[in-house]
Amino acid sequence: MSGISIRSLHKSFGKVEALRDINLEIDQGEFIALIGPSGCGKTTLLRTCLGLERPTKGTVLLGGQDAVAARKAKDLGIVFQKPALVPSRTSLSNVQITLDITGVKDHLDPNNLLEEFGLGSFKNHYPHQLSGGMQQRVNLAAAMVHNPHYLMMDEPFGALDEMTREMMCEWVGDVLLRQPKTVILVTHSIDEAVMLADRIVILAPRPGKIDTIVPVDLPRPRRRSLKTTTEFSNYVMDVRRQLYAVEEARGAA
Ligand SMILES: Nc1ncnc2c1ncn2[C@@H]1O[C@H](COP(=O)(O)OP(=O)(O)OP(=O)(O)O)[C@@H](O)[C@H]1O
Ligand SMILES: [Mg+2]
Repeated sequence: MSGISIRSLHKSFGKVEALRDINLEIDQGEFIALIGPSGCGKTTLLRTCLGLERPTKGTVLLGGQDAVAARKAKDLGIVFQKPALVPSRTSLSNVQITLDITGVKDHLDPNNLLEEFGLGSFKNHYPHQLSGGMQQRVNLAAAMVHNPHYLMMDEPFGALDEMTREMMCEWVGDVLLRQPKTVILVTHSIDEAVMLADRIVILAPRPGKIDTIVPVDLPRPRRRSLKTTTEFSNYVMDVRRQLYAVEEARGAA
């Protein structure tokens, strides 16, 4: 089983209480989007799930294992906002690095993955020859090629234009349909959260805690034309309303 179990999680940085009493059970293969105002602890929560931060109190278990152990087992795919590519390596070679590091045998074909992400003609290009969106696609391929059980992303599409973001959402959704993973996505985009998530977790700030969880019951595959439907808009409105309530509560505090 490769779900994520977050129990009574607290995280403080000195006097700053970043997270208070987070409890969340994420099913195997479930897609969770984390959304909330700046500084509410989204990155801290993700980094704790990645084993990059230790909980002050409580536990984070990935498939029953401590998060640090899961990272050591190289069963994670990680994508941050800024593409982490090696400038002197081609796209293909940058994807290959993950396989060299993890040594995973049962992996996806790097060539196919790049083709699937629309980079078939750019396999032998270097990062500086690629646009920001292309670099982020290579980054995503590098995070998924070893076919990890977990994929954790912190605003991966934040720096991209809207059309590219939409395409990337479709690509990611398609790959996950074939290769299901347990996913946590941190995003500021409500559209992106509704497009991709099974559940949207809204965090409230100071200290960061779970405010509301919105299940998204839309069929898959989700195409961007879904955005023109009333059903989609209703979810977006619902999440927006909850976020406004969180902001207003903060203003009143
Ligand atoms: N390494 C750190 N040392 C001290 N304080 C930290 C550290 N990392 C995060 N914090 C604090 O913890 C709180 C939550 O920060 P975090 O980066 O998790 O927020 P966020 O929701 O990701 O914000 P944003 O949307 O702006 O990325 C903030 O008050 C931040 O200042
Ligand atoms: Mg952040």
